[in-house]
Amino acid sequence: MSSTLFRTKKVEQSILDTEEPEHALKKSLSALDLTVFGVGVIIGTGIFVLTGKVAKETAGPAVALSFVVAGVVCALAALCYAEFASTLPVAGSAYTFSYASLGELPAWIIGWDLVLEFALGTAVVAVGWSGYIRSLMDNAGWHLPAALGSREGADGFGFDILAAALVLVLTGILVLGMKLSARVTEVVVAIKVAVVLIVIVAGAFFVKAANYSPFVPEPQPVPAGAGLEAPLLHLIAGWAPSNFGVLGIFTAASVVFFAFIGFDVVATAAEETKNPQRDMPRGILGSLIVCTTLYVAVSIVVTGMQHYSKLSVDAPLADAFKATGHPWFAGVISLGAAVGLITVCMILLLGQTRVFFAMSRDGLLPRFFSRVHPRFRTPHRPTILLGGIIAILAGFTSLSELAELVNIGTLFAFVVVALGVIILRRTRPDLPRSFRTPWVPFLPIVSVLATLWLMLNLPTETWLRFVIWMALGCVVYFLYGRSHSRLGRQEGMTADRTVQHGE
Ligand code: ALA
Repeated sequence: MSSTLFRTKKVEQSILDTEEPEHALKKSLSALDLTVFGVGVIIGTGIFVLTGKVAKETAGPAVALSFVVAGVVCALAALCYAEFASTLPVAGSAYTFSYASLGELPAWIIGWDLVLEFALGTAVVAVGWSGYIRSLMDNAGWHLPAALGSREGADGFGFDILAAALVLVLTGILVLGMKLSARVTEVVVAIKVAVVLIVIVAGAFFVKAANYSPFVPEPQPVPAGAGLEAPLLHLIAGWAPSNFGVLGIFTAASVVFFAFIGFDVVATAAEETKNPQRDMPRGILGSLIVCTTLYVAVSIVVTGMQHYSKLSVDAPLADAFKATGHPWFAGVISLGAAVGLITVCMILLLGQTRVFFAMSRDGLLPRFFSRVHPRFRTPHRPTILLGGIIAILAGFTSLSELAELVNIGTLFAFVVVALGVIILRRTRPDLPRSFRTPWVPFLPIVSVLATLWLMLNLPTETWLRFVIWMALGCVVYFLYGRSHSRLGRQEGMTADRTVQHGE
């Protein structure tokens, strides 16, 4: 039985599958499209919302260092993703990679994990977007009834109608096709980057050196009773949970990591890339470098404009301008953020439907979902199904804890991909790799350790939720995926023939 759990799908087979006409996606993206795509999804709720919260509650001005830590972990993982994506240009990202290297069960686990990452990530960003829109509407004197607004800290029944509506509209756009989505993305990404640059350039004039003191605030004990909210690392090591200080920089890094999620999504679009061997690594690394630079600059400027203890947790970038007496800039930034979050939401939704599509094409989920639309050539069925579920999820949930759950899922995928690089180098050294991760196995091992470190800095309750979701995934695999696996059936037929021929 263990041999079937670890059966691997041949790399050549993965590539062949994408060429079956009724299961083929259109190849229309270039390296620039991918970078725009990456920046489109990477810059979002993380920098626009979480920066203020972690600076105020966990790291102080040293949040800039937290971005560097999270950026380094992502860069290490990106070097592994780039090798895999350039070897296996097939929809499904880490899922496809692990099917080729680690085997079916690990691949299922990672696919299930990515569904969590993308579905919850989409919901988190949609809710963040809804907050910015409501704040703009408030400025204009329009108010939604409380029951149709944010679920964060709200009492009683309610539904965030704006968040749900956004997800449904984006679902429609994705069903109509990649080309339209890529074009919409480009315009919105330009607006978003412009807003981030305004924050950096205009904000630099209002920085006061006094706000950087202390740069790394003294550690402060967390109130008793917050046990499961403490990082797992503190629990294991028996440290009294605290905020700020050097440990706070790492705790904050595990949260602002959300701001980097998305470069891995670029890999999910490999099958739709014109020249994936060359363009994938460029797209992934390019978008990561652009975003890390912007994040560090934004966090240095914002914590310099306002003392960290006074930063707003809802709209820190805009409110820092209000605090320095420049509400006009604040309005522009809020508007840009609201527009920018749309692309993040759309690309996360796209990544999610592509993973689902790849799993269904392999028979691990019903094959019904892997027939592409005859005219638009998009996987319309999973897009509509998942879009509907996420719209409901976005309507009913609050974002704070969900973001941490998204992070743990993504970090887990990083570990699997890094291990996959090492394994595939051994099992298939012959495969052409247009991009090779340097210093294998040293670099992937460092990537695994750095990723695990960040994971251990996430709250214990996040770990518990993650374990429950993964256990559920294992049940689904053993009840459905294992017996319906296309690979398993092919292997079964080969075995039958061998027996008939008495070999
Ligand atoms: N990186 C994306 C964001 O910050 C998911 O919203």
